[in-house]
Amino acid sequence: MVARMVDLRSDTVTKPSDAMRAAMAAAEVDDDVLGADPTAQRFEAEMAATMGKEAALFVPSGTMSNLIAVLVHCDVRGSEVILGDSSHIHVYENGGISTIGGVHPKTVRNNPDGTMDIDEIVAAIRRTDGALSFLYPTTRLICLENTHANRGGKCLTVEYTDKVGEIAKNRGLKLHIDGARIFNASVALGVPVDRLVKAADSVSVCLSKGLGAPVGSVLLGSKAFIDKAKFLRKTLGGGMRQIGVLCAAAYVAVRDNVGKLADDHRKAKVLAEGLKKIKQLTVDSSSVETNMVFFDIVDSRISPDKLCQVLEKRNNVLAMPAGSKSVRFVLHYQISDSDIQYALTCVEKAVEEILTGGGKLEHVANGTTKTTMDTRSTLTPA
Ligand SMILES: Cc1ncc(COP(=O)(O)O)c(C=O)c1O
Repeated sequence: MVARMVDLRSDTVTKPSDAMRAAMAAAEVDDDVLGADPTAQRFEAEMAATMGKEAALFVPSGTMSNLIAVLVHCDVRGSEVILGDSSHIHVYENGGISTIGGVHPKTVRNNPDGTMDIDEIVAAIRRTDGALSFLYPTTRLICLENTHANRGGKCLTVEYTDKVGEIAKNRGLKLHIDGARIFNASVALGVPVDRLVKAADSVSVCLSKGLGAPVGSVLLGSKAFIDKAKFLRKTLGGGMRQIGVLCAAAYVAVRDNVGKLADDHRKAKVLAEGLKKIKQLTVDSSSVETNMVFFDIVDSRISPDKLCQVLEKRNNVLAMPAGSKSVRFVLHYQISDSDIQYALTCVEKAVEEILTGGGKLEHVANGTTKTTMDTRSTLTPA
């Protein structure tokens, strides 16, 4: 019998569905570098229509998609991009925009809701007038992230996005949205996805996150933008041949799974409510807007690493530490309601095990507690 595993590390961990595998097997393919793969062409055209942009390009990853976008918009030496200090592009993409693209990042603080204050964005735009303007890099681009991963999957509203778009337009700048989880935002906000990204010059959408495709992202923008993006994709080694097999799976992912995102969000709330009842943890369940649950551990004897380690070793529940005191769980359509209940029971047990080392807490004279070790436990108490 296969042991039960509940994998809450990320929404990137889904396995392709039978329908995806069947579509991959049946996909009509040709060489996409030669511009001849019919399945890729159909998929890109459909994504462009869905997102309300002129053209689309299938790329291997969200990281490459964002990198290409920044490099296309900032194609003049000395360019600067304004982006959130907690944004995925800034924190988790190896600084590629600088190391590969020579683009200078200007960070603005991300608020707990994933926004950057409008006045801080405006203040970050470099002056092009004045005696000293020749000293500055040139602001060319603003990047937003929707949903914002490091802010617990928070959604940026259409009003906010439009406002930033207006600022960009008025200043002659471009707006890129890292929409790795833009469909989650669209569903949670009840705003059609094309409307949500209307103000953006380019958008990157991950297909292999909550949508469940095995590989790939799609970059969208004007036809001229995508023509340049295609060139850069090749430069970066992202020109792939018979990508119809991947696009076929991605097509099924979008067709079958956008409709399941609302349920992921509901399950995330259930999980948050359950975690709230465990006294060593705190979670603001009202802040759970999409498929991510971040919670803090308030008992200093339990570290996030330890909790994740015990969850994995004892119960096959996988999670990722998200900070010195926090852990994150990410939901996706292959996590059931029963998995959520199982995970909650396991968290409770893991907390107990860490505090007791598998044994009982004995109160000692000075008011502190001492652990009676269970020698069967392979883990040291925290
Ligand atoms: C918000 C966001 N943007 C971009 C990416 C990068 O995607 P990939 O892992 O496909 O490079 C991720 C991945 O987790 C992400 O969460």
